[in-house]
Amino acid sequence: MKWNSKLYDNKHSFVAEYGKSMIDLVNVEEDQKILDLGCGTGIITNELAKEGATVIGIDSSIDMIKKAKLNYPNLNFQVGDATNLCFQNYFDTVFSNAVFHWIPNQKKLLCSIYNSLKDNGKLICEFGAKNNVFQIQTAFEKALKQKGYSYSSEFYFPSKDEYKLLLEETGFEIQHIIEYDRPTLLYDGEKGLRNWVCQFFASYLSNISYEETEQILFETEKFCKNSIWKDNQWIADYRRIQIIAVKNK
Ligand code: BEZ
Repeated sequence: MKWNSKLYDNKHSFVAEYGKSMIDLVNVEEDQKILDLGCGTGIITNELAKEGATVIGIDSSIDMIKKAKLNYPNLNFQVGDATNLCFQNYFDTVFSNAVFHWIPNQKKLLCSIYNSLKDNGKLICEFGAKNNVFQIQTAFEKALKQKGYSYSSEFYFPSKDEYKLLLEETGFEIQHIIEYDRPTLLYDGEKGLRNWVCQFFASYLSNISYEETEQILFETEKFCKNSIWKDNQWIADYRRIQIIAVKNK
């Protein structure tokens, strides 16, 4: 997926806001080495650095890293592949918010993180859980189908039990794992849902004409109206899995 860093910061700043609320889980100490994995435009990387940690922000998107470097020129940002990190026994903490569900090869991802951590280092992360954005995906799929297009979800939204197993197979010991509903307000009033769809399902719409795209967005909104339009706002049906896992010696 090609990320639009401007739209991401302007219309989807809730991603970073929720990420900020996760920083409390980290217990940042002076000189702690932290990797912010999938750092986007660097908002959380900066928050972690402000607390005294030595932070590296890594993202696979060149555009995001360009913006992060512009935003925070004194911080260390790198373009990199989360499933192939070039660090060994280096970090005290790998932190990640709203990223893992984009990565198809979870085994490779967890091995890569495990190797990058010191002994007793922690993975602290949150991402989409089973049935995350179910209403939006179902509506979008129906709207695409009406126009003769198909949708097949590329996201990985596991259950807590499924992910627990993967973590343990990799060698992590689980300190904390929860799965929960996190209804999420989409900014920009009536336009909130279409903004979201245009950002996150961009690849499905890129070869479709403007007129047809408008119809698909309209139909998606129509299908979602009963479930996630509340008090004149779009409330996305986010579900989250939150994890603290320790690298066993
Ligand atoms: C999420 O953060 O849950 C998400 C973002 C984009 C597409 C699907 C899910």
